[in-house]
Amino acid sequence: MSEIHIMTHPLIRHKITLLRMESTGTNEFRKLVEEIAVLMGYEALADLKTKDVEIKTPIEDSIQPIIDGKKMAIVPILRAGLGMVGGLLALVPNAKIGHIGMYRDEKTHIPHAYYCKLPPLISQRQIIVVDPMLATGGSMIDAVSEIKAQGGSCIKCMCIIAAPEGVDAFRKKHPDVELYIGALDRCLNENAYICPGLGDAGDRIFGTK
Ligand code: PRP
Ligand code: URA
Repeated sequence: MSEIHIMTHPLIRHKITLLRMESTGTNEFRKLVEEIAVLMGYEALADLKTKDVEIKTPIEDSIQPIIDGKKMAIVPILRAGLGMVGGLLALVPNAKIGHIGMYRDEKTHIPHAYYCKLPPLISQRQIIVVDPMLATGGSMIDAVSEIKAQGGSCIKCMCIIAAPEGVDAFRKKHPDVELYIGALDRCLNENAYICPGLGDAGDRIFGTK
């Protein structure tokens, strides 16, 4: 069973608190999602491989590390995952971007896939799937299943807020996938919304509703 990483950094916790507040408007909400994605990405990429290269500083020749290893793919789950892409690109500007479109049926809460386009050579990439919310877990579970079906195997998932129900379901289905969670909340309500949560992430990022 791979690890669950729950963020403890005070900056991440502080920004998630601001994100939760009903009074936080669309503009600030978007900025916060992106900033949290940077901070969580920093943690999630801590195991990136490096190799030594020879460089010349103004003072002398030197052997120093640079990032090496698998090429990266960032895969947001539409719509809300799009809000996290800029933050990760700030860390890994050369990453390719895939997209997976999912929406939850409002009554059954079952996710429906409507789009999937992944970068080429997906089997050779380190894949980071991003979605701010892991509620029942259905959307993330299906997204990862689709990525695996297309050959992806080296996968990490990042979500800003998760419910215990979703984490359990996800780990049962994808025990090999590492999960990075900004905050683990109390439970789901009768509409499968996370409590205390932040409401509908897609609506708050895009100003819809
Ligand atoms: C939200 C959210 C996740 C999903 C989480 O998207 O961004 O993708 O719900 O719920 P789950 O864990 O129970 O599957 P939504 O389906 O509302 O679509 P949207 O991003 O287009 O608003
Ligand atoms: N999707 C959201 O955007 N928020 C929730 O609390 C649950 C699912």
